Order: sequence, then C-alpha cells, then structure tokens
Amino acid sequence: MDREFTLEIVRVTESAAIAAAKLRGKGDEKQADQAAVDAMRTQLNLIKMHGTVVIGEGERDEAPMLYIGEKVGSGDGPQTDIALDPLEGTTLCAKSMPNALAVVAVSESGGMLNAPDTYMDKIAIGPGYPKDLISLDASPAENVELIAKEKGVNPSEIGVCILDRDRHLKHIESVRSTGASVHLIQDGDVAGVIATTDPDLTNIDMYIGIGGAPEGVLAAAALKCIGGQMQSRIIINNTDEEQRAKKMGITDINLVYKLDDLVSKDVIFSASGVTDGSLLKGVVFQDERVFVETLVMRSNNGTIRHLKTEYRDTN
Ligand code: FBP
Repeated sequence: MDREFTLEIVRVTESAAIAAAKLRGKGDEKQADQAAVDAMRTQLNLIKMHGTVVIGEGERDEAPMLYIGEKVGSGDGPQTDIALDPLEGTTLCAKSMPNALAVVAVSESGGMLNAPDTYMDKIAIGPGYPKDLISLDASPAENVELIAKEKGVNPSEIGVCILDRDRHLKHIESVRSTGASVHLIQDGDVAGVIATTDPDLTNIDMYIGIGGAPEGVLAAAALKCIGGQMQSRIIINNTDEEQRAKKMGITDINLVYKLDDLVSKDVIFSASGVTDGSLLKGVVFQDERVFVETLVMRSNNGTIRHLKTEYRDTN
C-alpha cells in the first residue's frame, strides 16, 4: 500500500459520511445505511487495488452490497483486505444523535481477522499501560482497580464506557462497586473504544462489553494505529452462528483474540463524522459547501491525521 493510499481511503469515508448525513434525523435507518453503502462502494471501486471485503455489511445472501467476500477496487494494484462499516450507528444517524461514523480499515491481504457477523465480548484501553494489564477474564471491578493503580489515582477517577444494554447490568454494577464512573452509550462502540485513547479529553479509560464482532475488528484497527490494548472473544448464540464462524475459519470459539490477532499487518484506518461526536464533528452543509472531518491513521508509521475537508455541494 503506497502513501497515496491514505488519501484514497479518506475519500471513501468522507463520501459515505456525506451521503448518510443528508438523511440525519429522518428516522429511516435503512435508507441512511444504503446511502452510505452506495457512496462508499463507488469510491472504493475507484481505488487502484484488488480489494476483498473481509468485514462488511453482512454475508452475501443477506446484504445486497459490500458483503463479506465482495471484490472492490479497480482491479489493478495491491491485494488488500477491507473492513468497513459505511454507517456505524445507523440508529444514531436516523435519530440525529452523537457519534455516528463512516469507517473503513484497509490492510495488506490476510491482515485482519475474518470475524463472522456475530457478537463479540470486548475490553480495551488506550496506550501507555504495561502489556497485558487488563483481561477479559477478570471482573470489570478488577480491571478498574488495575488501571487506577497504574495511573496512580483512586478508582473513583476512572471512567468506563459501556453500551447501554440489559446484558451489561452486571458489568455496570461491578464497575460502580469500585466508585468508578460508567459512561453509557446508546450505540457506536467503535467510537467507544477509540475514546479510551484520550482519557484527558473523554474521561474514558476503558471500554467493556458485548457488541458487534465486525465493529470489534474495526476498533482494533484504530487501536493498532494509536496504541492500546484489546482482548475479545466471539460470542456464539446458536448453531447457525457456529456454522458461520466455522465457515470463516473460526473453530475454537473460546479463543481470546488480542489486538495483534485481530489486526496482524500494516493497516490504514479512516473514520469520518456523520453526526457530532467526541472524536469528530459531523458533516456540515453550509452556503453550498460541505464540511467533513476525518481521522485517518496508519499503523506502520504511527501517523495520525485529523483532516477537515471542504467540498462544493453538488446536490
Ligand atoms: P449498527 O451501525 O449496525 O446499527 O451498529 C451499532 C452498534 O451499536 C455497534 O456499534 C455495536 O457493536 C452494535 O450495534 C451492538 O449491537 P446491538 O445493538 O444489537 O446491541
């Protein structure tokens, strides 16, 4: 992947974010998602690469486009694997709530876990901690205590981001038992994981809980660029999911995937804001111009770019 690639990937998330932003607050999740998918696909196909979608909008029979296994790119250039979520937080966009993003990660071929479209149990922290500090098998309270000790602060000064779901009631109780704060989010755990990388700004030191497996790989791609730690385990709820996981080469469902197992090679991660969020501002349409913010990073060289792009509004 040569250096120009980074800007090509930025165009992909920018264009999906703009398409989705036109449907912010309209209450139609499917329409917003479809608009983002269409825009993203068009841009991906302009890039000189042999791309394969490894994390997509679902499996071939259930997703009309950008499904797992779909080939994208112009057909010449490097072999790449693509993980994407054209609209991460479809409900957030439909309700015009914070933190909806358009997200893509591109790696060299074979560089990302081909996760099935199932749930995944996740724990993540930002950079600067000793290796393997946190563990998916420790209780949330134990992990909070470890982080507090490393930071040299009282547990009450630690913030933990958790998706607001009934399945997390025990996690919430465990975190609060230490005196730490729980930051509940309605949706969008890619942004939740990334928030751990800048606790001074976000007040979030750790992300825990069960969310989508595809979002887990995307979040791992971001952490691989910024630094941080993550552990995850695929959750299988029924035999259909078990079969799907097997089809993707996952046989041991109890395996804990660490950051380098989720993303093992050089990766470029790009996220553009659809609605305003802690990470990025949402798209602004003003005076026949369109303003879009993007965070784009590469793991090999650790470059992190915050881009603000202005387009002429053609619609
Ligand atoms: P969508 O963009 O597909 O709606 O996903 C939003 C999201 O909140 C993810 O960030 C998260 O991983 C997943 O949904 C959680 O799933 P569920 O809503 O079923 O608890």
